[in-house]
Amino acid sequence: MGDVLRWFHPVLKATRLGRGRPQQVLVNDAAYALWRDGSGRACAVADACPHRFAPLSQGRVRPDGRLACGYHGWHFDGEGNGVSPSNATQAKCDTRALRVEEKYGWLWVCSRESTAELPTFEREGHRFTGAFSMRMPAPLHVALDNFSENEHVPFVHTRLGWDDGHLEGIEFEAENFDDSTTVKYRAEQRWSPLLRLFDLAPGDRYHNEWVTRFDPVRTEYTIFWSKPDGARRPFVTRSTIYMVPETAKTTWFHVFITTHLEGSYPLRAWLFRAAALGLGWWEVRDDAKFLPQVADVTPAGRLTGKLGRFDKPVIHNRKLLEGQYFGEAAGVLPSGLRIVP
Ligand code: FES
Ligand SMILES: [Fe+2]
Repeated sequence: MGDVLRWFHPVLKATRLGRGRPQQVLVNDAAYALWRDGSGRACAVADACPHRFAPLSQGRVRPDGRLACGYHGWHFDGEGNGVSPSNATQAKCDTRALRVEEKYGWLWVCSRESTAELPTFEREGHRFTGAFSMRMPAPLHVALDNFSENEHVPFVHTRLGWDDGHLEGIEFEAENFDDSTTVKYRAEQRWSPLLRLFDLAPGDRYHNEWVTRFDPVRTEYTIFWSKPDGARRPFVTRSTIYMVPETAKTTWFHVFITTHLEGSYPLRAWLFRAAALGLGWWEVRDDAKFLPQVADVTPAGRLTGKLGRFDKPVIHNRKLLEGQYFGEAAGVLPSGLRIVP
């Protein structure tokens, strides 16, 4: 497997890492110890001491800002340079360190050899609105499947999108590319009087358009509404979900939300930003509550179900997950895959 940390991954809300107490994070089953050095800068090293493998995340931060192992006191700086206090002349005390950056209130890590850049979410008039993290109780491939289709919307969710009375009217387009998939869904928004707060009316259509990329695994969802005559409503929200494998059975979702509002609607703007964050959290939690049902029964690698038209991006995303993200040879899909038109 390739090292997924050749790209930046968000791993922890920055305020969760205080001074003095190291934290452990897992990325693709590899453990890292995070701490803040004497200047408050976040640092990360492999969470196994190079001496005899004690977890450095259980160690302590020294007054000089170096992370000390709790077993025999070897200590490390943010570049991974190690010192053995009882063998001061001993060479080979160094350990693997990561690059750590802080942006949008989250800590992002990648390997020190990587030249990766951090993302920028404020594009096309969008303003950064907030972020949250949620642990999905499923392997990455199962969580990615779920976030590659909206067929489950009327059944798993209760707020955004359509209800099961509008299944026939779903408009759907999907395109597969060498490094990404793009998907567009349109259908009538299920109605709630609360939606009037956002200038929506019964009969409005809900649009969810997204692109999934694999360097690293993330999907950028753009959600907006239109009137029955096709004119767009003024609110747009764009959420970028980073799907970070934690263990073979769990995946962290780190969700970064932006909003774009046309015209000046001060009160509605405030409400819409709050709703974009709140609804975003509820929607992802709906998926988190459902995923345990399929977490252990969905095979990795090839998809073997009787697949429908909405599964086109699900199939391709599996291929890109294996071929591009995990860095294995492509070709995990069975050539005789059955697509029900
Ligand atoms: S195991 Fe860390 S110093 Fe010995
Ligand atoms: Fe969902």
